[in-house]
Amino acid sequence: VQDLLSEPLLAGTKVLITAGGTREPLDPVRFLGNRSSGRQGVALAQAARDAGATVTLIATHLEVPAPHGVQLVHASSALELREAVFTHAPGNDVLIMNAAVADFRPATIENSKIKKRDEHSAPVIELVRNPDILADIVAARKDEPALPEFIVGFAAETGDEQGTVLEYGQAKLERKGCEMLVVNEVGASLTFGQETNAIHVLFADGSAAVESSGSKLEVARVVIEQISNAI
Ligand code: CTP
Ligand code: CA
Repeated sequence: VQDLLSEPLLAGTKVLITAGGTREPLDPVRFLGNRSSGRQGVALAQAARDAGATVTLIATHLEVPAPHGVQLVHASSALELREAVFTHAPGNDVLIMNAAVADFRPATIENSKIKKRDEHSAPVIELVRNPDILADIVAARKDEPALPEFIVGFAAETGDEQGTVLEYGQAKLERKGCEMLVVNEVGASLTFGQETNAIHVLFADGSAAVESSGSKLEVARVVIEQISNAI
């Protein structure tokens, strides 16, 4: 009923959403991963679809089913996700980078399974930085007009003695150069794999921050509404 009554806020709009968490391969059977379930990204895809958008969802290891009525693309590692984002982004009006992207990956991928070899030794795994997909696509827009005009980042932040969640969020928004940053307040048991979220929506154009909390679908509807107001 909700869906039938809600306004088609994003009718005629094309939206690309990344969801889930990347896996960085170590050897043929192992990876470095993270605890993102993909629930928030799937809720965003659902909310965008319900708002009348044409939705492409790039899924990295979702623990929940993808919604019907969206074009589904799969990626695994951060490098694969980067490739998929750059392939699918042209022609979209909005990009929402909700996936948890590994900041680092193993420097080498072993061709065969890493063995114990002797009684006591353990390997040291060297990591290298992954590209920043969000910052890269923001930067690529100056040469590629078909890339999304409205780019949204997500950030899980904790406050500490050096700054509040909002201060860290504001600094990250400026660093990334995107139009909107959705900041999730996280603690030990908050957000990752949980059913509910508490968010602050920050805008690069100086519009006042918007706060919301609720189920991941409720939060997703707020984010979609804010995007539709801003574009
Ligand atoms: N992101 C990305 N590529 C990366 C890392 C992050 O595109 N290699 C995107 C995420 O999808 C998210 C946003 O950047 O939309 C913020 O992610 P976050 O991890 O909070 O930012 P980082 O710049 O990695 O900062 P931190 O050092 O705090 O992890
Ligand atoms: Ca990060």
